[in-house]
Amino acid sequence: MSQSSQAFDLQNQAAYQAWRQHRLAHAPRAGMAPVLAVAELPRPTESEKAAILAQVAQASFAIYQAQNFSPDTAAIGAELRAFTDAFGLHIAEAHRSAGDNGVVALRVSMAEHQRGFIPYSRQAMNWHTDGYYNGKADTIRAFVLHCVRQANIGGQSQIIDNEIAYIRLRDESPEAVALLMDRGAMTIPESPEADGSVRPTSTGPVFFVEAGRLIMRYTARTRSISWKNEATRKAAALLQHLLENERDYLHTLTLRPGQGILNNNTLHNRTAFDPDAKTGASQRMLYRIRFHNRIEGVPHGKTQ
Ligand SMILES: [Fe+2]
Repeated sequence: MSQSSQAFDLQNQAAYQAWRQHRLAHAPRAGMAPVLAVAELPRPTESEKAAILAQVAQASFAIYQAQNFSPDTAAIGAELRAFTDAFGLHIAEAHRSAGDNGVVALRVSMAEHQRGFIPYSRQAMNWHTDGYYNGKADTIRAFVLHCVRQANIGGQSQIIDNEIAYIRLRDESPEAVALLMDRGAMTIPESPEADGSVRPTSTGPVFFVEAGRLIMRYTARTRSISWKNEATRKAAALLQHLLENERDYLHTLTLRPGQGILNNNTLHNRTAFDPDAKTGASQRMLYRIRFHNRIEGVPHGKTQ
């Protein structure tokens, strides 16, 4: 068992404390996460990649700024795929909103199949990890969010490292961690998806450990969700309370064109944007690609 996997064992207080201390000492504080330069979006150099991987290792996410990218929005999608391919990431979705290259454009949509879905609206989105409603076989372990055009007002992202969230909850209540690690903790009922398909019911844990890594499935939603029992619901409410009160390790940014967040599916939210747009329109457009595998600093040997 790796050191971090022992740290997630609720019986092993010594391993947890050692890991916790290291994590809190090395994770970037609020406002201190660097914006890492990438000269050519589709061709990150070895040193640019190394800087991004080192940042992901410490924070579960890295913010980058591409200096050169295509003026053509469609071409940016292909360039973004080339960028993530350089990290050995495997595409996780092929739904109707995704182009052939797995790139989903997040923008205000009046298209019938996307209307009414918050990602395609100007509304705020509460804390979540991506794909929290997916079954185990479709676990989302990483994603990239890349800005093509920003809103005139708002559309700010907030990020909290999942491991920081785990630390906050375990320090407050190891019992709550245990409840949220139960395989029956959270159930999301069947629901129509933005791509027109019907997503089946999904039941699973909020936190689980896989190959020594902490994976998280979380949503702050309170409707169309059921918790295993009242104690589990309270544990989830405690977690939400801790997220809302996090300051030291809360990261806030409004992505600018060419900027993005490459991350191991860490907790994020967004504020509403362009509230005064009379037509309901907004130019804001972000590209998102989700992945099955994590961004790892250590080569797997078969990362392509
Ligand atoms: Fe998201």
